[in-house]
Amino acid sequence: MSGITAQAGENTSEDVVAATSTAQTAGQSNIAEANPSAGEDSDSALGEWTSSSTVSISDTIRNYRELHGRTYHNFGNTEYWGPNDDAANEQLDIGHHMNNLILDNKLFLAPIGKTPQRVLDVGTGTGIWAIDFADEFPSAEVIGTDISPIQPSWVPPNLRFYIDDAQLEWTFPENHFDLVHMRTMIGSIDDWPLLYKRAFKSIKPGGYFEDSETDIRIRSDNGSVPPGSPMYDWGELFIGAGEKMGRTFLVAERAKKLLEEAGFVDVVEHTVKVPIGSWPQDDRMKELGRWNLLFLTTGLESMGMYLLMHILGWEYAAVQAYLEKMRTALLSKDHQAYVNISTFYARKPEDIPA
Ligand SMILES: C[S@@+](CC[C@H](N)C(=O)[O-])C[C@H]1O[C@@H](n2cnc3c(N)ncnc32)[C@H](O)[C@@H]1O
Repeated sequence: MSGITAQAGENTSEDVVAATSTAQTAGQSNIAEANPSAGEDSDSALGEWTSSSTVSISDTIRNYRELHGRTYHNFGNTEYWGPNDDAANEQLDIGHHMNNLILDNKLFLAPIGKTPQRVLDVGTGTGIWAIDFADEFPSAEVIGTDISPIQPSWVPPNLRFYIDDAQLEWTFPENHFDLVHMRTMIGSIDDWPLLYKRAFKSIKPGGYFEDSETDIRIRSDNGSVPPGSPMYDWGELFIGAGEKMGRTFLVAERAKKLLEEAGFVDVVEHTVKVPIGSWPQDDRMKELGRWNLLFLTTGLESMGMYLLMHILGWEYAAVQAYLEKMRTALLSKDHQAYVNISTFYARKPEDIPA
């Protein structure tokens, strides 16, 4: 792992400051800079959004909630199913590598040119995508936001992290970003049409939006993931839990339409069948499959525990028993399983009808 996690109580309250201007005047005080010292020397274009006055906020967002030894964020009213501890963050970083492989070693697909100026990564997680982006594009002022303060302090000078809930009113200026990026926000969002509309508003005319989302259903083309098997049930359980909490896991199948309804044009969908395990013949797919297997086996409990226990009401022992069956099934050589991972990118038109 990249060593970029933060444990509850590890940092002092000085480590987190709240940006007060636009956020609070809009009635949204839930924004905090996660690494205020980072980027101090840069000629920051972020100044117009962040406040001239900052205040310390309490340590409460680091008093994480706990469920059977796993920690979960504690910021505002938004609920999120994933833990924010070392084990969870390690899985995110494995996922980052896998997602880059899916995009042929690229961080994104949108044709934003070589010198983007302002870029936002919503739900940045450990911030690994934003860090790589900021390194690759020194021209850009990059912002990563998340509800968990799990981003590192040592980051490229052109990157800032903010603790911010993407479900609240966005306080970024309108027509501002060259690129707004999201990845794996399934099961986190109540209102996808609204989220896409907010992204649209914040992007400048001619700028791009990109979102990569996994279809949580594990499939096979040869009947080796039959209904009733642990891998088949995985998708059904997630979808059921998503419906129950009002935050769907079925995003990819609606994304194109929702992006067009939000006002984006030239929506491109790039879907890859990402194998689970080394069963494919093709070398690239075999490598992807190994990473996906590592991603899933590393994160089984991270992905499943909150949803199965807290949302679907399972006992802890039943959860562990199912996760063990799932692990055995994933590691078995008897299947040719895969998931679809879809990346969508779309442009905000230059001329927006009034
Ligand atoms: C599955 S992780 C993906 C992280 C990162 N995008 C990546 O691909 O590595 C989802 C992230 O979204 C964050 N998240 C969930 N709900 C959020 C919200 N309402 N606002 C901002 N971030 C949110 C979580 O804390 C978590 O870090």
